[in-house]
Amino acid sequence: MDRKVTNIGVLTSGGDSPGMNAAIRAVTRTGLYHGLGVYGIMRGYAGMIEGDIKKLDGISVANIIQRGGTFLKTARSKEFHTYEGRKKAYNNLKQLNIDGLVIIGGDGSFNGAQIFSNEFDIPCIGLPGTIDKDIAGSDTTIGFDTAVNTAVQAIDKIRDTMDAHDRLFIVEVMGRDAGYIALHSGIATGAENILIPETETDMEELICSLTEKEKRKKLVNLVVVAEGGDLGGANKVAKIISERIPTADIRVCILGHIQRGGSPTCQDRLIASHMGYYAVESLMLGRKNVMVGVINNKIFYTPLDKAVKEKQKIGQEWMKIVKILAS
Ligand code: F6P
Repeated sequence: MDRKVTNIGVLTSGGDSPGMNAAIRAVTRTGLYHGLGVYGIMRGYAGMIEGDIKKLDGISVANIIQRGGTFLKTARSKEFHTYEGRKKAYNNLKQLNIDGLVIIGGDGSFNGAQIFSNEFDIPCIGLPGTIDKDIAGSDTTIGFDTAVNTAVQAIDKIRDTMDAHDRLFIVEVMGRDAGYIALHSGIATGAENILIPETETDMEELICSLTEKEKRKKLVNLVVVAEGGDLGGANKVAKIISERIPTADIRVCILGHIQRGGSPTCQDRLIASHMGYYAVESLMLGRKNVMVGVINNKIFYTPLDKAVKEKQKIGQEWMKIVKILAS
């Protein structure tokens, strides 16, 4: 065993995701079970720098497993990008004898954890908490399932009105750099086209597929676009299409932050609980600077920098399937 921790801090950082509370609960209760001191760090790295840290007991995390958001709150801290900021954060941890951290967040949070841990020798364990699923080393991330289901429910509703009016709808889902929410929600709602950042859209093919369907009197057309799609967001795509097909009756719907909130699905609660438990076990065993992921229902550890750099690859066969199923 490399190093045994005695007091651990847990924080949520970056964009919140449903299931973060379940993960905090699992980390806290597992830590307490092992006789560790557990501290909740408020507003991510910002609270670490300001010393906004509170001791947690079993009751502190009662009745939160079903709640969206994060009771520790979250932030993106500019100060943590500076050495001075990180030094202040370290001093605050030292004062409380915190010698291990669990960081629940996405790529930016893991980058910060890696730098901090290298500088100050505090072992950090990452849990992938992001609706975007843009992290390698795990089949899924905490919050993705909830976000996709929220998008699917919303798009199903849009389909009703879309169908009643024979309209072309462009629905924008979240994902600045990642197309997973668009891909999964688009497939699950039978979208005719899905535009994502990872794939270059063939403009002529898109226009051709929409006009061809119009000719066949398949007037209802759903295009799901990731906010960071290669042609831009939904408004941009709508403009391009209306210039090329002036007869199309187009409407745009941007789902936005509704996808980040809400009660986590059972799957998100489960993976958050599973990963949270193993985050503490990992610190106890002396692991550091790895992310806890789940692959084929088994716990899997990936170095933080690798989890961020490699991202998740989108299988191109899915794009082919989308076209065939929507024809
Ligand atoms: O990373 C999660 C995410 O929801 C992205 O999909 C989105 O682009 C971004 O966060 C939005 O961030 P903010 O809440 O700061 O607007």
